[in-house]
Amino acid sequence: MCGIVAYLGHKSARPILIEGLKRLEYRGYDSAGVALLVDSTFEIHKTAGRIAALEAILPKPKATQTVGIGHTRWATHGEPNTVNAHPHADATGKITIVHNGIIENYSTLKKWLTEKGCKFRSATDSEVIANLIGYFYATDNSRDGQHRPCDENKFEWAVQQALHEVCGTYGLAIMCTDYPSILIGAKKGSPLILGVGESEYIIASDAAAIVEHTTQAIYLSDNEMVVVTPTGFRTKTIDNVLVTKSLKDIEFSLEQIELADYEHYMQKEIAEQPTALATCLGGRIDLKSARVVLGGVQNLLRDLTRTRRIILTACGTAWHAGLVGEFLFEQLARIPAEVEYASEFRYRNPIIEDGTIVIAISQSGETADTLAAVEQAKERGARVLGLVNVVGSTIARSTDAGVYLRVGPEIGVASTKAFTAQVAVLTMLAIELGRRRHLSSDFARSLLAELHKLPAKIDRILEQSDHIRDIARENMDKENWLFLGRGVNYPVALEGALKLKEISYIHAEGLPAAEMKHGPIALITDQMPAVFIATQCSQYDKIIGNIEEVRARGGKTIIVATEGDTDIARYADHLITVPDATEQLQPMLTVVPLQLLAYHAAVLRGHDVDKPRNLAKSVTVE
Ligand code: M6R
Repeated sequence: MCGIVAYLGHKSARPILIEGLKRLEYRGYDSAGVALLVDSTFEIHKTAGRIAALEAILPKPKATQTVGIGHTRWATHGEPNTVNAHPHADATGKITIVHNGIIENYSTLKKWLTEKGCKFRSATDSEVIANLIGYFYATDNSRDGQHRPCDENKFEWAVQQALHEVCGTYGLAIMCTDYPSILIGAKKGSPLILGVGESEYIIASDAAAIVEHTTQAIYLSDNEMVVVTPTGFRTKTIDNVLVTKSLKDIEFSLEQIELADYEHYMQKEIAEQPTALATCLGGRIDLKSARVVLGGVQNLLRDLTRTRRIILTACGTAWHAGLVGEFLFEQLARIPAEVEYASEFRYRNPIIEDGTIVIAISQSGETADTLAAVEQAKERGARVLGLVNVVGSTIARSTDAGVYLRVGPEIGVASTKAFTAQVAVLTMLAIELGRRRHLSSDFARSLLAELHKLPAKIDRILEQSDHIRDIARENMDKENWLFLGRGVNYPVALEGALKLKEISYIHAEGLPAAEMKHGPIALITDQMPAVFIATQCSQYDKIIGNIEEVRARGGKTIIVATEGDTDIARYADHLITVPDATEQLQPMLTVVPLQLLAYHAAVLRGHDVDKPRNLAKSVTVE
């Protein structure tokens, strides 16, 4: 949560900071601010609200202001108001910081600093970092009374002392009035990248804020800091040990993060699914041998094939993809699999038997709970595979092996194209493991050939967008919805409910359709739309029975069915069709109308679908 951006170079910093913050706004958008260095003092502007509100209060940019830091916030400690907005300066006014993360021991540190006479202005945990640095800078003494060695740079040393005191996570950019041509970045648990241009440098939470200026970057690891000056940069640990980092290419273009002709990123990303899926599958399927080639998992395939158990762990939409994966590993590869919420897995002392493989799924590769689950699994001896979209992200770098989703940047807070790609990768993996065990080459080949046809099938679903908008319009005033599916389409029901909740603020529940009669059926009235996924599958007759149960109680149905199923229309108040597909592959189709339903309902209700209230794209806090 929160996006940080900082600039040091030869251009006016302000427009670069504002543009960068706009690109990071999906990470948090309840308040924003910038600090610019001017004649050895800071000029700080901040406000509650979005970047547009910040822009409105800024004075004209000055060409001489070539160093600055900026922040867009998703509040954790302290309400989202102007005082709590970043940047935060220390009490002496010499140090200013922007921070993404959480300082867990902030109240102890705040008490200690207050006893030393330090005055705080905000309710944030972040202000503690500014004041800690300020304290060590002013006293030249560490907390245990050690004087700063005379050969160490005072600013860098003070930052290191402060970072030794804090527990928690941080992505930081820091300035000091006495060192107007030094910018410091530091990372632990929150992402931080340094973009390296021609005599200009940008520190940011995400490459989206950098790519307009340079495609060369270094990715900091935990407990590392970077000291940037007009003539170059040094990377070191917070223990002052120099580290050599190599420059990496940022693997996406500006075009990929522009809205183009779309009104919203979510709309664009739903529409991109045919191409995104084709790119995800591209070069990974060998029809002749009926095998899948996933380069990043070669070193783990042997273990995966022999494993007695796969644990999939993730959060939110990625967790739903994991549920589809559980079904596929069991059906196609006959390997026992189970899915764990990363936030639960990390704390419940999980039993990891010898040879267990853990698969972590994450679009951003930065989700704090998923990352912690990865660390937990590694500590207990599991080999961990990452299914991640963002190249070079923390989870991608922390896992033993991995498969990238290759769907390009996903900016809309509601995850869409990442889900279809997560399911596609899990499908390919399950087929490959199945082939190495018992799955017939004929069945595997037919599934793989069908995978290639899915992008065109998704295109056909997208053509129904206007029809789905009409259904959304007719039902948008209903405040409670049910989403019901069975088998591999049960996770899609969960995903449909999550999409509707998070962007339209309508209460929705996803359920296995048969569970409805064990309680939720009591809720059924004509005011509660029941969305059924009732495509042709092994449980088709059973789900028709569940639809009958809802209709018998006066419930209204929205049914997602297979094209050409003429019988089902009589059960449907609203019918949406998807092209036919083998059951195991259906989630990549059936999810699309539910994404569109949620999108249209939210737009019709007047919500900002890309920046839903209280949410942020990547949840880098617990
Ligand atoms: O980046 P990740 O895939 O790890 O994110 C996990 C969830 O936070 C994410 O899927 C969230 O549930 C989305 N907002 C759902 O649309």
